[in-house]
Parts: sequence; structure tokens; C-alpha cells
Amino acid sequence: MVPTAPASSGEPLVLGIETSCDETGVALVRGRELLVDTVASSMDEHARYGGIIPEVASRAHLEAMIPTLERTLGTADVDLSEVDAIAVTAGPGLVGPLTIGASAAKALALALGKPLYGVNHVIGHAAVDELVHGAFPERVMALVVSGGHSSLLLVDDVATSVTELGSTLDDAAGEAFDKVGRLLGLPYPGGPHIDRLAREGDPTAIRFPRGLTARKDQEKHAYDFSFSGLKTAVARWVEARQDAGEEIPVHDVAASFAESVADVLTAKTIAACERHGVSTLVVGGGFSANSQLRDMAAERCAEAGIELRIPPIRYCTDNGAMIAALGSAVVRAGVAPSSLDIGVDSSMPLTVTHV
Ligand code: KG4
Ligand code: ZN
Repeated sequence: MVPTAPASSGEPLVLGIETSCDETGVALVRGRELLVDTVASSMDEHARYGGIIPEVASRAHLEAMIPTLERTLGTADVDLSEVDAIAVTAGPGLVGPLTIGASAAKALALALGKPLYGVNHVIGHAAVDELVHGAFPERVMALVVSGGHSSLLLVDDVATSVTELGSTLDDAAGEAFDKVGRLLGLPYPGGPHIDRLAREGDPTAIRFPRGLTARKDQEKHAYDFSFSGLKTAVARWVEARQDAGEEIPVHDVAASFAESVADVLTAKTIAACERHGVSTLVVGGGFSANSQLRDMAAERCAEAGIELRIPPIRYCTDNGAMIAALGSAVVRAGVAPSSLDIGVDSSMPLTVTHV
């Protein structure tokens, strides 16, 4: 029989485990209060390959899991027996890394006799904001942008009711930044470097294309994103200057490229808020560190009368708190726990909050 979380305690203590990519995250959340969040990253091991190597990430998760768990419990001065429920990322993400986290969570659930909740990583990026800015109002829009995802979600209930309005058809926003970074000769990941260069460039210097904003795309892809055409346009522009023996104005290229990404992300998101009568926007995912996106979102939300909620950056990058936060919401919603034989799903649909 699957054990259930205490029904009447109101504020169960949830342990969250995240391993979908290169961060091993373990956190403890009670209700909407974050007690401790511990993250170990294997990014340094991937940097020299210019991308995440799943096998390297899996091994790093395996090595980091128990020390990260012990550090979390020790910092919170909590004994494992006090944990009421265990939440773990069930997808989307890399299969090997996800499997390490899910195996650890299942072992803990079985050994402790506590309920297991397999939850959605992308929705976790939105849910974590409840730990920072408090309970969500009835309906929020969530823009989740990182190296792996660019998704627009209409959240009626973060635990049980999420609608995917749109997603990227090709590259995620961070991925596009990393690819343009590579072609400009910047170290991996290129995103933060482009951000820095862009701050000193002219965003109007070059008019790069705005993906999926043409009239013909308005119907089918109103809230979808596409950044691969933009990336190609930047590559062509740079190559043409190189072929002509001209110097590349990297600051202006970075600024004009970043402007295109921020423009499309914010324009589509605000249009979606207006269309659905939503007055609160949550932005999450590692790419929300991007200054061009932050500035434009702040400006356009203020103009449109939309409250903008962006958690501090450590809660935007992958972490255990986001999984514990969503797990906690799912427990509060009284949802039945996951079976101990759940599998991981690398392409888990964004409408599935938990499995
Ligand atoms: O959420 P995250 O840490 O990992 C993924 O799940 O992908 O996001 C990392 C991504 C990388 O593509 C990185 O280049 C990008 O976000 N990124 C940025 C900035 N900081 C991180 N891109 C642009 N500007 C930034 N300031
Ligand atoms: Zn993520």
C-alpha cells in the first residue's frame, strides 16, 4: 500500500530532490516556507565539452546525492524520520540524471515508509516563487526560460491545473545565447557573457528577426517561440563582416541579439496575460538572470499593469527548493502519492504537474 501524507497537520515537511540536468538539489520545505536548500553542480566538469554530457552528470549526481542530502538535513537540524513526504523530479530532463534522483527518492520513501510524489521540473520553476513571494493569486502566467526550456504556462492551480500556451519549437532562449556565444568565441555557457557585452552595446544597431511574430504565425504559434532563425541570422551577419575583413562590433551584435530575444519573450507573454485576463506574471528558469529580459519585462509589465514576480537567481537555476515547493503544493492539494514504480519521463508534458 502507498502511504499517505498526514492529512490534518496542514504543514507537512517535504524533502525535494532535483537531478534533471547538472545540478543535484536537495531541499526541505514546510508549507510555503523554505528551511534549507543545498545544491551541488557538475557544470565545471561539462564546461570543457561546451555542453552537458549526460553520463558525466549522472555520475556526479550519484556521487553528490548522499553528501547533499546529509548537508541539507544537518543544516536544518532535521532527522530523516521527521520528513512527511518526498518529492522528486520525474521529468522533463535527461533520463540518466533523472533516474538517479528518482532512485534515491524511491529508496528513501520505501525505507522511511513515507509518500513519494514525482513532480514536473518546469512547473517547479514556477512553484518556487511561492516560497519567495507568497501564495499565488487565483491565476498566474509563468514564463519558464533556461538552457533547456522556454515555455509559457497558464497556471490556475500550480499543483493540479496548468495549461501550456506555448513553447519553443527549436532552441531554448539560453541555448540560443550559448550558441551565439560560441560563434562569437565566448566561453561556455555564453549566456552571461553576451548579457555583459550587450549592456555596453546598442540594441538598435542591427535589426535581427523576431521569431514567430509574422502575421501568418499569429494564429497557430501566437505563444510559441523560435530562436534558431535568429541564431542563423546572427551567424550570417557575423560571417559577412568577417568575409569582408571587417571588425565585428561584438557589443552591438550582443545587444541587438539580446534585444530580439527579450522583445519576443516579453511581447508574447504580455499578450497572453492580456488575452487571459491574468495580472500576475512569474518568470523562472536560469535564463531569467538575463538583464535585457528583466529590464524589458519590468518596463512592459509596469505599462500593462501586470505584477512581475521573479525569484532571486539562486531559485531560478535548477535547485531542490523548486521541487519541494511543488511537492508541498501537491501534498496540500490532497493528491494521491505516486506509485513506487513510477518511471522518469524525459519529455514529460507540461500539463502534467505530478505523476
Ligand atoms: O536553468 P539553468 O541554470 O540550466 C538549465 O536548466 O538549462 O539555465 C542556464 C542557461 C544557460 O543557457 C545560460 O547561458 C543561460 O541560462 N543564462 C543566461 C544568463 N545567465 C544564465 N543567458 C543570458 N543572460 C544571462 N545573464
Ligand atoms: Zn530547469
